[in-house]
Amino acid sequence: PVITVTLCFTAYLFGSVLFALPVCRWWRLPDPRALGSGNPGATNVYRTGGWAPAAVTLGLDAFKGWLPVWLAGMADLSLLAQAMVALCAVTGHMIPVFYRFRGGKGVATALGTGLALAPATTLIMAALWLLVMWRWRISALASLVAIVSGPLVSAVLEPRTLPLFGLLAILIVVRHRSNLIRLAQGREAGL
Ligand code: G3P
Repeated sequence: PVITVTLCFTAYLFGSVLFALPVCRWWRLPDPRALGSGNPGATNVYRTGGWAPAAVTLGLDAFKGWLPVWLAGMADLSLLAQAMVALCAVTGHMIPVFYRFRGGKGVATALGTGLALAPATTLIMAALWLLVMWRWRISALASLVAIVSGPLVSAVLEPRTLPLFGLLAILIVVRHRSNLIRLAQGREAGL
């Protein structure tokens, strides 16, 4: 339990680093929290900076989810403990201690945790994201379709991870409240 608690705590702290902010500073871009959707994530970085800073943001935000879960696997922690570490990383991104608990939507970080814990399910979800993105060019719609499919896909491919994907889906859908309202009104901007 000492290792589990330590990794959960570390995952939350590391998750609390919103990489969109240092990446935008590095690229001399405006603070993503003040533009576009106001979300400190790769999609909103893309709106002001294009694909390169967005890709770096996506990679780093995914990495901060992947690393602690991978470490938990290396430490031979139980699946339950690994799932707890994953949730702590995503929670860190959503309610970060370093930014007055105002964070992002958790998609990239969930992607990282999923790749470490349930790669087959996560790759299918990523493929769904790309498919929706290719067809409609709306990142929030792609994220919502992918995350809602998580419990269904994991039930077939990696059923032991179903509870984790269920919780991630709930958390991430709740964080997309404003996107859901805009989607319902047909006002969600494409990329
Ligand atoms: O991952 C976040 C994405 O689903 C939506 O981002 O900036 O369009 O609200 P945004």
